[in-house]
Amino acid sequence: MKAPLTQLAWETKQRLETSPQLLSDYASQMALVYLTATVFGFIVSFLVAKLYRRLRQPHYEIPARDVSKGHRWCITDIFPQPTYCNVSGKHIIHGVFCDSCGICVEEHLAVEANRTLLCKSLATHTENRRHHWIKGNLPLCSVCDVCHTDCGNRPGLGDLRCCWCNRTIHDKCVDNLSAVCDLGTYRNSIIPPSCVKLKLVGFKGRRHYVVDCVRRPNIPNWNPLIVLANRKSGNGNSEIVLQAFRRLLNPVQVSTNTSFTRYPGNTPFIDCLVMLRLVR
Ligand SMILES: *[C@@H]1O[C@H](CO)[C@@H](O)[C@H](O)[C@H]1NC(C)=O
Ligand SMILES: *[C@@H]1O[C@H](CO)[C@@H](O)[C@H](O)[C@H]1NC(C)=O
Ligand SMILES: *[C@@H]1O[C@H](CO)[C@@H](O)[C@H](O)[C@H]1NC(C)=O
Ligand SMILES: *[C@@H]1O[C@H](CO)[C@@H](O)[C@H](O)[C@H]1NC(C)=O
Ligand SMILES: *[C@@H]1O[C@H](CO)[C@@H](O)[C@H](O)[C@H]1NC(C)=O
Repeated sequence: MKAPLTQLAWETKQRLETSPQLLSDYASQMALVYLTATVFGFIVSFLVAKLYRRLRQPHYEIPARDVSKGHRWCITDIFPQPTYCNVSGKHIIHGVFCDSCGICVEEHLAVEANRTLLCKSLATHTENRRHHWIKGNLPLCSVCDVCHTDCGNRPGLGDLRCCWCNRTIHDKCVDNLSAVCDLGTYRNSIIPPSCVKLKLVGFKGRRHYVVDCVRRPNIPNWNPLIVLANRKSGNGNSEIVLQAFRRLLNPVQVSTNTSFTRYPGNTPFIDCLVMLRLVR
């Protein structure tokens, strides 16, 4: 009398030997198992290697504001020139202005402006971007780009300025100007929003946008300016410089993190870097 297990093994062997069909089924099943295990092993080691490479690579994160949520408000006690609120239309002495798109409003209307007025977009999908007109509060002595006469000098919220190309025009002249914005005088220093790709990173509750990559635009001699300034050095004046550049450039070109030396993603061609170290 054999032990039950040996008995079972012997019986299975007998069955396999007497039935070639069973034997080949068994063989192909085993082959499949081996194949699956091998492929699985390859995939796992590939993923592990990739993760390891990613962890070892220093990664450069440039945070990008979610412009759909609102503006980047800065408070001022006194506007340097006659200013009108973009929500109420009233003349204002103090209030808030957005350092990216340049709109000015009364302090208590900032929430409403966040909701109703669009800020300068950092990244877009459309290639031929249109002007982004900001109504009123033109720089003093502005000249209309169409009829070449003074504009923005009437009291009240009137006439327009494009927050990308800095062109100023009369309300009535807007139809005489090409609708497509070419980014103006400083186009070869600006990263056009159509060339920026953002991505969402971080876990729930801390999700935020960062610059994923930047594509080279079709602009001759394009050499974008990247402005990095340390907020803490100097008398804290770097904020004024940063505000001015956010207004002029794509705000993703302006950062307060001075610890990186390379732009994120596949953007090795950016070779112009301005570091502002404001010292006392
Ligand atoms: C600044 O950038 C470095 C390098 O990408 C990063 O490790 C660091 O966390 C960043 N610091 C801040 C305050 O964002
Ligand atoms: C406007 O939106 C910005 C960006 O989301 C936010 O930081 C700010 O607190 C908002 N301001 C007001 C007054 O709601
Ligand atoms: C505020 O600005 C927007 C866009 O610049 C404009 O469409 C709107 O009419 C302005 N609001 C007032 C009260 O003029
Ligand atoms: C923008 O336009 C205004 C008025 O036309 C001008 O005073 C100002 O210098 C311009 N800014 C830049 C950065 O070109
Ligand atoms: C603007 O366009 C209108 C109609 O096309 C034309 O009559 C007018 O002369 C143009 N104005 C200027 C300043 O070019």
